[in-house]
Amino acid sequence: MSSCESIQGTLSGLRVVIDAGPTYEDIDPVRFLGNRSSGKMGFAVAEAAVEAGAKVTLIAGPVALATPPGVARRIDVRSARQMREAVMQAVDRADIFIATAAVADWRVAEYSARKIKKSTSCAPVLELVENPDILAEVAARNPRPFVVGFAAETDHVAEHAHEKLVRKNLDMLAANHVDERIGIGADDNALELIWRDGGESLPRAPKSALARKLVARIAARYHARTGKPA
Ligand code: PMT
Repeated sequence: MSSCESIQGTLSGLRVVIDAGPTYEDIDPVRFLGNRSSGKMGFAVAEAAVEAGAKVTLIAGPVALATPPGVARRIDVRSARQMREAVMQAVDRADIFIATAAVADWRVAEYSARKIKKSTSCAPVLELVENPDILAEVAARNPRPFVVGFAAETDHVAEHAHEKLVRKNLDMLAANHVDERIGIGADDNALELIWRDGGESLPRAPKSALARKLVARIAARYHARTGKPA
């Protein structure tokens, strides 16, 4: 598919849920744990899915991005637990779930309602607890939508991606190498798409172009799996 090839109609009538951006895990009223995800990749995927004719629900962590035209519903959340709640409600009747969000793996065990005071003698020690794995939970549902995960890796991209595809029981995984110039926060990305019996490399390109290619591959594999015509 060239970058200008049409994807119109390839997801016609399908309900697609996409999560995007970071989650912020509050420590106290002024501090949080977060990451550098901008939401650009997920919002580009939402825009491409709209172009493909899908009814799109976009669940966004704290990002500074306008809702792409045509998105049926946007739900803004802050923490991983809020994102989980919104996703679980939205995927109930979804055909496809695409998890582009950089969900924080951990949150603090105990939120402090008061600002933690800086002490001159000792630094505070934060106890962390694991957040729910939203993607794995959606993939474990029965019935479940077609499930696409993302993976951000700094090394051994292919090995880690394959391990996640199998462990989380996904239909497709889009892995990206992240560093200061590409992937997280940047305008460009490059994706290694993998599924159980194959894969494809999508070389570096603006996220909007990559998102259109990704949506074309998702549509093709979704229709191959369900046997429904596009
Ligand atoms: O937002 P941008 O600045 O455009 O950057 C895009 C991106 C780099 C964030 C995006 O392309 C990407 O790779 N997103 C996934 C990042 C990530 O957190 O990967 P992970 O390997 O930690 O998680 C694997 C998958 O599990 C992801 O689909 C993630 O959404 C999901 N997950 C992870 C943890 C968790 N608690 N719940 C989840 O659903």
